[in-house]
Amino acid sequence: MYKFLIKPVLFLFPPETSHHIVVFFLKIPGVSFLLGLFYNYQNLKLERKIFGLTFLNPVGLAAGFDKDAIFFDEIASCGFGFIEVGTVTPKAQPGNDKPRLFRLTEDEALINRMGFNNEGAEAMVERLKQRKNFKIVIGGNIGKNKTTPNENAISDYEYCFEKLFDYVDYFVVNVSSPNTPHLRELQEKEPLKKLLTRLMKLNSQKKNSKPLLLKIAPDLYNEQLDDIIEIIRETKIDGVVATNTTISRENLRTPNSKLQTFGSGGLSGKPLTKRSTEVIKYLSEKSNRGFVIIASGGIHSAEDAIGKLNAGASLVQLYTGFIYEGANLVNQIVRRLMSDDRC
Ligand code: FNR
Repeated sequence: MYKFLIKPVLFLFPPETSHHIVVFFLKIPGVSFLLGLFYNYQNLKLERKIFGLTFLNPVGLAAGFDKDAIFFDEIASCGFGFIEVGTVTPKAQPGNDKPRLFRLTEDEALINRMGFNNEGAEAMVERLKQRKNFKIVIGGNIGKNKTTPNENAISDYEYCFEKLFDYVDYFVVNVSSPNTPHLRELQEKEPLKKLLTRLMKLNSQKKNSKPLLLKIAPDLYNEQLDDIIEIIRETKIDGVVATNTTISRENLRTPNSKLQTFGSGGLSGKPLTKRSTEVIKYLSEKSNRGFVIIASGGIHSAEDAIGKLNAGASLVQLYTGFIYEGANLVNQIVRRLMSDDRC
């Protein structure tokens, strides 16, 4: 129904408008309840126990879809085992000028330069306090404000970490968005080590520390991935989300002239599948499966998801694939995992 009825209607609108329509629809009383009856996957075979948390199933919604924790309870009714809210920054910020989100339908992809538009950590906490469904794992993806210089970035991450601590089940440190100027420089060895060491120190001072992961770009070279492995070992964070969007525009069907009208931003969806899986495989093999990997990047089918799990991921997250395929994609992946003898 989604592919042949709902998507064609949603795709008549600009992408950000379609997003707001979906939120509005899910907020209509009864809609998420009905979806929940349809997309309900509670089966021990699907359950995953990872870094002390129980995931009802290994298919999650990636960061950026529910940036402000507005409809995590409702969207969970599409069958997700976990939802990552954010990226949230300490203060509210508007993000980049619109239009800032573009569909590449020929490639089943998106380009976005949203720029961490969000209402800030305090507003997010107020919404998380209303959380109804505690069976679904909630991750908090944290970042820094655009106006905060990189020298002071640690204090922004610290602020979000402290604010959200009691309301999320795990944390993701986002230093890999291409849409906040200089953010990705925080992926370099020294600033990254300092940032993660500081957050892990805060974490260790809590009565029950929370799993902490790092979200990385797919555009890192192998030497940089080696540094990431070393830093994870040293700082003892729990793992990585691999990967964020790419700045590459290689091997696209969308004509160059059209790409130029879209401008800069992170590319997500099908063109990202291969590179993102390569990064997972490299990290998993080189670290000897030394930490948890959550896969994100170009999952549009059950095969894509299995490819990520086989490469070394423990959980998968959807974003662009969910836009193009709808909740049926979660269903396809879950059904495939149920029939897979290795699961
Ligand atoms: C994103 N993504 C993202 N990631 C993140 O860590 N924080 C964020 O705020 C956002 N925002 C965001 C907005 C939009 C419009 C898109 C398309 C993506 C990245 C997202 O979580 C995911 O990692 C990538 O999109 C790759 O996965 P897919 O889309 O290929 O499945």
